[in-house]
Amino acid sequence: MTAAYEYETHEYDVVVVGAGGAGLRATLGMAEQGLRTACVTKVFPTRSHTVAAQGGIAASLSNMGPDHWQWHMYDTVKGSDWLGDTDAMEYLAREAPKAVYELEHYGVPFSRTEEGKIYQRPFGGHTTEFGEGPAVQRTCAAADRTGHAILHTLYGQSLKNNAEFYIEYFAIDLIMSEDGQCQGVVCWKLDDGTMHVFNAKMVVLATGGYGRAYFSATSAHTCTGDGGGMVARAGLPLQDMEFVQFHPTGIYGSGCLITEGARGEGGYLTNSEGERFMERYAPQYKDLAPRDYVSRSMTMEIREGRGVGKDSDHIHLNLSHLPKEALHERLPGISESARIFAGVDVTKEPIPVIPTVHYNMGGIPTNYWGEVLNPTADDANAVVPGLMAVGEAGCASVHGANRLGSNSLIDLVVFGRASAIRAGKVVDPDSANPVLNKATIDKAFDRFDGLRNADGGTPTAELRLEMQKTMQADAAVFRTAKTMAEGVEKMTAIAAKLDDLKVTDRSLVWNSDLMETLELTNLMPNALATIVGAEARKESRGAHAHEDFSKRDDENWRVHTISRVDGNKVDLSHRPVVTDPLTTEDEGGIALKRIAPKERTF
Ligand code: FUM
Repeated sequence: MTAAYEYETHEYDVVVVGAGGAGLRATLGMAEQGLRTACVTKVFPTRSHTVAAQGGIAASLSNMGPDHWQWHMYDTVKGSDWLGDTDAMEYLAREAPKAVYELEHYGVPFSRTEEGKIYQRPFGGHTTEFGEGPAVQRTCAAADRTGHAILHTLYGQSLKNNAEFYIEYFAIDLIMSEDGQCQGVVCWKLDDGTMHVFNAKMVVLATGGYGRAYFSATSAHTCTGDGGGMVARAGLPLQDMEFVQFHPTGIYGSGCLITEGARGEGGYLTNSEGERFMERYAPQYKDLAPRDYVSRSMTMEIREGRGVGKDSDHIHLNLSHLPKEALHERLPGISESARIFAGVDVTKEPIPVIPTVHYNMGGIPTNYWGEVLNPTADDANAVVPGLMAVGEAGCASVHGANRLGSNSLIDLVVFGRASAIRAGKVVDPDSANPVLNKATIDKAFDRFDGLRNADGGTPTAELRLEMQKTMQADAAVFRTAKTMAEGVEKMTAIAAKLDDLKVTDRSLVWNSDLMETLELTNLMPNALATIVGAEARKESRGAHAHEDFSKRDDENWRVHTISRVDGNKVDLSHRPVVTDPLTTEDEGGIALKRIAPKERTF
């Protein structure tokens, strides 16, 4: 029997789900063009996880020295360990300066150079001369609170452009037509318990990553992969989920982020012998090698007995040699975090740090316009009508197997903006809204009602912890065939326990028990796809360091993993990597020989 929930219907040209950097940039771009745009978000917009982004946003502005979009593109290709889609990576690097200047004109309060230009700092993996020259200062910063500055500005601009916000509405499921078109989204309003159906010509998923599938993450507790969960339940795929980024410098114990900008400003890592060990692993770029490299090096130091602390299980990040004014001006936020979360005065002592889950390279597959892909045997790039995904929820794929620091904020704004440009072409404001497929609305309410009344033997928090500990142990910085096979077995059993959940609060108003349960049903398919994809990939590439297959294998594995999750089963297939750039060398594009796969050293 269908659960009876009354609901209010809202009609828009575009509904954006999520109000982080990508969601707000998409919302703003849509609204600016006069599309009737709603942004539905489970948290107040300026509390979205982008607010926690610290170090900055990459763009080859050349404010601090020579730079070029092709160098940025090359670094991104190499950073991705040759798994990124080349067209999307060209789009990112080419559009980045425009997207940053737009932010400046919208009012983002960037830090400034003496001449009044946007201040830029070095970040890992960003270089000059196609990886031959010194590190470049490419990361545009607003002190160490860049995400905060961007988020507040985009929210203000969206309001100014008459975008409508539905705040503290939780998206339960997508509404899909019989023939596979997305028609909208079913939502639950958290503060009064009412139900809402959003009918849209275009739905944009900007729901962020799923860091909370792990026990220790820099991600907010709201990062529960809601878009990926909804997509999986709609029978659509996820891509490259095995690639999970560990940020080298999460504070030991709390997981709180210490920006890579700290190393960009001259900070360095040391082991128990006081040695600057990155000089051994990455002689050219040292502490400014990419994150996968640095995280692995730190883990190796700890494994070989050179970790610091009473259990020799972490590493020191040293900043005390930096001038106090620099710390105050450029790194005020992390100075405060270190004091609060590690009890450390950064002007005097090192910060205890450890690689911590930070970012999901994988997500909902899209092209570089943000349109969601559903690869078929005939068409690897088949588009799902009416559905886009941007930001960490999506996988364009510009980060491939490893993302460069500060390429996330630029991904948010470049592809949020791109989705709006595309929607301006494919969404007709004068056309009628779709006639909604009632069956999928009923299905969403049935699922919601089933969870609301779940009366099994497994409390949500207990199952979530089991999932988080398993993912932390078995899909870690280093992975072996044995740990991953065990991980798949454990996660399959854990996912099956979703049928045995126990929810104690049956109310509809501010029911955090139910909301966390819905979030767990979203985390689970993301986590399952991650461990199954990791177990299947018999090579090492980027963040996937397989100890039994320690080399990259381009012949067999330069392919995207496509996973379709149904309950606790994951079906894997592959999609070719896009190797053609957008423009040829004759058209001013990058020379193909520059980005041909080669050994990745720093
Ligand atoms: O270290 C950081 O500030 C994080 C930046 C990023 O993930 O891009």
